[in-house]
Parts: sequence; structure tokens; C-alpha cells
Amino acid sequence: MQILGIDVGGTGIKGAIIETTTGKLVGERLRIETPSPATPESIGLTLKKLVEQHRWSGLIGIGFPAAIQHGVARTAANIDPSFIGLPVADHFSMQTGCRVWVANDADVAGLAEIRFGAGQGVAGVVLVVTIGTGLGTALFSDGHLLPNTELGHILLNNGLEAERYASEAVRDAQKLKWKDWGDRLNHYLLTMESLFWPDLIVLGGGASKKLPKFAPQITTRTPVVPAHFLNRAGMVGAALFAEERLGRH
Ligand code: BGC
Repeated sequence: MQILGIDVGGTGIKGAIIETTTGKLVGERLRIETPSPATPESIGLTLKKLVEQHRWSGLIGIGFPAAIQHGVARTAANIDPSFIGLPVADHFSMQTGCRVWVANDADVAGLAEIRFGAGQGVAGVVLVVTIGTGLGTALFSDGHLLPNTELGHILLNNGLEAERYASEAVRDAQKLKWKDWGDRLNHYLLTMESLFWPDLIVLGGGASKKLPKFAPQITTRTPVVPAHFLNRAGMVGAALFAEERLGRH
């Protein structure tokens, strides 16, 4: 089945048609800058543009950077606060004219990795961390997702919120060297490790492509691997999520 998978990020909104039986992209990936301010109206219009560029009228799955409970956004760390309480799936359906399913961006990236990527067939606990404007997490036990974990917002033992200390946005803003940022990420991953005892940690988002640059800083006993889909995991997983939901309705 083919579904348009869209990843709404802090800097770009990316979409590609995904073949859900393989997780492969069909045709090209299109990207539009995330509008600022990132309001329901402006993001909806950008999604509409992306849908038109793909000449798409079928099902859409969206990975969105917020806790999403039954299609409703509950948080808004890096998007406009007016999203809180909004039934985003219905809103984006109306704006695009397509049937839309929405879930947390890290959760769907994790789904792609568990189904077809680095977490495929891994028994036990897998923690997926997406590194971008925010720090997103997805936690799986034997392939089952515990949704909306939001572990990028925990306070580290230095008193700082993890996302404000070790995200890609912080690395950019503070112009940190890979080594210095790698130490920060390691601090975060060690904290996650001591709380959740994962069997595998998968890193997604933009920085996943650069793992060799900061791998020497990582001292977790848990193996840390890059996402198989790198920063495409969100688009692939969004389509897989929509397919899964379709089966339940
Ligand atoms: C949001 C999460 C999201 C993550 C990555 C965080 O700020 O709270 O919902 O998964 O950023 O985009």
C-alpha cells in the first residue's frame, strides 16, 4: 500500500510517498521550510502545499513534534502553543482534504526502525532518540511501543532540561564541537540507560548521519547505532502508523 508520510520538524516539513510493505520511498522526498510562527494555520497551509506538490489525494500519516493523544496535541515545546488541545488529525484533514493520521514524530520514527530498520527483530527494550530541534524519544519493549514518552524533557543531574542541553539546535546555537556536544549527548544517554536499561539505543534525526564524529564520546554499555533510515525514519514511520490505524477502523 502507498501512503504519503510527512515529518513535521522544527526547521523543515518533509514528505514522501512510502510503500508500506517495504518502507521504501516511492519517488522523491520533498521538503518545505517550517513556517514561523508554526501555527495550526501556517503548518496546515504548508502541508497542503506539500500534498499538492506530490499530487496526492490518498491517505496521509504525519509525525508531529508533540505528545499526541488520540489525534489531539497535548504539548507544544517547539511549535506554537495554540496547538495544545487541538485535534490536529482532524485539523490537517480539513486543510489537506485527505484522510490524515497523526502521531508523535519520535514514536513514528521508532516504528520505522522497529519494523524495517535497526530495531528489527531486537528482543527486549529498544530506546530510539531523535536528535533535532528537540530531543524526541520512543520506547519499545519486544516491539511494542509505549507512546508519548517525552524523555527529552527530563532534568539531568546538572539541573538542565535534556533538550536544552544536548539537542541538535543547541549544538548549532552554541557552535559546539562534535566532541563537546558528544559529551553532552553521552551524559543524556547514560541517564536514559540508568533509568530504562535498554538493550539497544537507536539514534535518529539529523545527527544520526554524523555518528562517527561523536561515537568516541559515547560510553554507554548499551550498543548505540544510527537509525537505518537516518533522518527519513519519521516519514517512513508516519506512513506505517497511518496504515496500522487504517486497519483498526
Ligand atoms: C517534543 C516531542 C518531540 C521532540 C522531537 C520535543 O520538544 O516535546 O514531542 O518528539 O521534541 O521533535
